[in-house]
Amino acid sequence: MRIIITSDLHYNISRSKRPTETVAEEICRRGGDILILVGDSAGADLKELEAVFTLFEPFEGARLAVAGNHELWTHGREDSLHRYENEIATICSRHGVHYLDTEPFIQGNLAIVGNVGWYDFSFRPSVMKIPLRFYQHKVAPGAADHIEKHRHLLEAADDVIPAVRQVSTRWMDGEHVKLPFSDVDFTHRLVAKLRRHLQDVEKVADRIIAAVHHLPFAELLPRSIIPNWQFGTAFMGSELFGEALLEFPKISHVFCGHSHQARRCRKQHLQCTSIGSTYREKQYEVLDL
Ligand SMILES: [Fe+2]
Ligand SMILES: [Fe+2]
Repeated sequence: MRIIITSDLHYNISRSKRPTETVAEEICRRGGDILILVGDSAGADLKELEAVFTLFEPFEGARLAVAGNHELWTHGREDSLHRYENEIATICSRHGVHYLDTEPFIQGNLAIVGNVGWYDFSFRPSVMKIPLRFYQHKVAPGAADHIEKHRHLLEAADDVIPAVRQVSTRWMDGEHVKLPFSDVDFTHRLVAKLRRHLQDVEKVADRIIAAVHHLPFAELLPRSIIPNWQFGTAFMGSELFGEALLEFPKISHVFCGHSHQARRCRKQHLQCTSIGSTYREKQYEVLDL
């Protein structure tokens, strides 16, 4: 059995168009039994998600997908949770794509489980000494200083050291993802769903493969000495997903995306891979079982 896994195609972004079309042609020509798209296939315009699915229609095996944070982006007042649980599910079923965020995929004695994953700031770089409230608002101190609605974060800010006042980045989920609860609550909800799906399939499968868009282990975090990038690691994922995955000995492989940096690590029985597609260069993994 051959499984092909790719991620972060970002087909809504112009510099990702041609690379996505090229990699889709290559994957379809190569062929396999199962294809997994591990999130950020497109963005706020869900027509682009449909266009990506169309690119992979010649793939003869089963086509599976999880959402990425970019598919939860909305413009205007739309609710990201409704989009995540309903609109993306509808588009997947219209295109014959199995949406893992709704339910696991089972073929013979193999199960594939996954979802978007999320972040609870457990990967925030404590060495930077930026107070938690900046991560919760998804703006670094230097950015908060320039944005009226975030300036209150710096009031009475004797806990903000001078060195981080120049860190000027924002995590744009803060503008475009609209959830009816906190990121921590969303993370807990998704971890519980992942655990539930794993409990369901472990009764019937001999082997499980997991696909989670955000990173489940700190070992997969991108490394950088640039403060703006370091701030961004807070939004890369959550160790709670890793803890859940380690509870299930039938999982052999874990695939994720989101970081746009290829990394591998071994965690007990898990072989973990972040795919590493960038906006201009798309990557994929081939797993022969
Ligand atoms: Fe991405
Ligand atoms: Fe992402």
